[in-house]
Amino acid sequence: MVGWFGKKETDADSPPADEPHVPHIIILGNEKGGSGKTTTAMHLITALMRLGFKVGSIDIDARQRSLSRYLENRRNTITDSGTSLPLPTHIVITKSPFNVMEDAEEDERERFDQARERLKHCDFIVIDSPGNDTYLSRLAHSHSNTVITPINDSFVDLDVLATVNGKDLKIIRPSVYSEMVWEQKLVKAKRDGSSLEWIVMRNRLSNIDARNKRFMKKVTEELARRIGFRLAPGFSERVIFREMFLQGLTVLDVMDNGTSRSVTLSHIAARQEVRDLLKTLRIPEVDRRINELKQKEQPDDESDTQASTKESAVSETAPTATKSEAAAPSTTSTSASSTAASAAPARTTPTSTSMVQDSSPLDYAARRPVGVN
Ligand SMILES: Nc1ncnc2c1ncn2[C@@H]1O[C@H](COP(=O)(O)OP(=O)(O)O)[C@@H](O)[C@H]1O
Ligand SMILES: [Mg+2]
Repeated sequence: MVGWFGKKETDADSPPADEPHVPHIIILGNEKGGSGKTTTAMHLITALMRLGFKVGSIDIDARQRSLSRYLENRRNTITDSGTSLPLPTHIVITKSPFNVMEDAEEDERERFDQARERLKHCDFIVIDSPGNDTYLSRLAHSHSNTVITPINDSFVDLDVLATVNGKDLKIIRPSVYSEMVWEQKLVKAKRDGSSLEWIVMRNRLSNIDARNKRFMKKVTEELARRIGFRLAPGFSERVIFREMFLQGLTVLDVMDNGTSRSVTLSHIAARQEVRDLLKTLRIPEVDRRINELKQKEQPDDESDTQASTKESAVSETAPTATKSEAAAPSTTSTSASSTAASAAPARTTPTSTSMVQDSSPLDYAARRPVGVN
């Protein structure tokens, strides 16, 4: 079975009558910690919810539970400040306590199947995985429609995908993770004849080391051809991607929920990067909703375009021109384990401009919920 959103020819609000509605499963995977899996997972979850999709999330990194803590912080923000925010239906799958490998694997298979069953009403399931090879991670890869692998923009991180010759930048052999994705692709095809798409995104891109950036681009493009993945445009190194963990918020909440009056050029560019990642999924219904949203944001478009152009030329900490946003919160707060609100994102209207420094506390920081510093 394939998620109906995954079917390229399907461009409708409901699945074709003869096909069951099955969630499109996206796993964030990379056998390396600190590459941006949890950050990307949280931004994808928020972006999809804000496009009005029903989203489920699964944390199989039960040791670190970073995604679960991100979502706990989000729930605390809702409770403490009364802010309306959409939440996914979230499940943590822990490691089996059984010692015998076969028993443990069967137990984890059952847990995973139960989680999928509980989330079958969702349009999307986003899975955050650990930075190491586990049975659960392999299983989750084999059940996914899309694998997204964030890699930090350095050759150390590229080593997780393939061994590269330092002299001529030629690819010597694929890495264990690449082989694992390939194996799970085969497992999936054998199980139900469906395919798994692999997308690699470079993360924490910076303008500082242009030479490294050029080399990375060349090698990742070559790898994409050789190993069989698609390249996503990626996320830049941005304060906004990392500073709101304690509030459980993302740049999309700040911009769409009206939780901030001041929006920097970096916010606008970051939101665009998240949307560009969504577009890489090549799911017509996602593209349609993004376009619809853009239409609603039409009054912002001119300044957005200018912002994106200017933004690439300014450093992350440079003072940037901002616009104000008057948007009524349009999302619904839900209880901890309930379904995400299918909320239409709020329309944003620029009203005035001011100057703020991106690295300084932003307006939303001043309205941080009680008890969060
Ligand atoms: N694009 C980015 N810009 C700035 N910081 C980032 C970005 N992506 C990730 N980070 C930060 O890098 C660290 C590792 O990211 P994380 O998502 O936890 O990685 P993983 O889940 O792969 O271990 C975190 O501190 C996170 O806030
Ligand atoms: Mg993580």
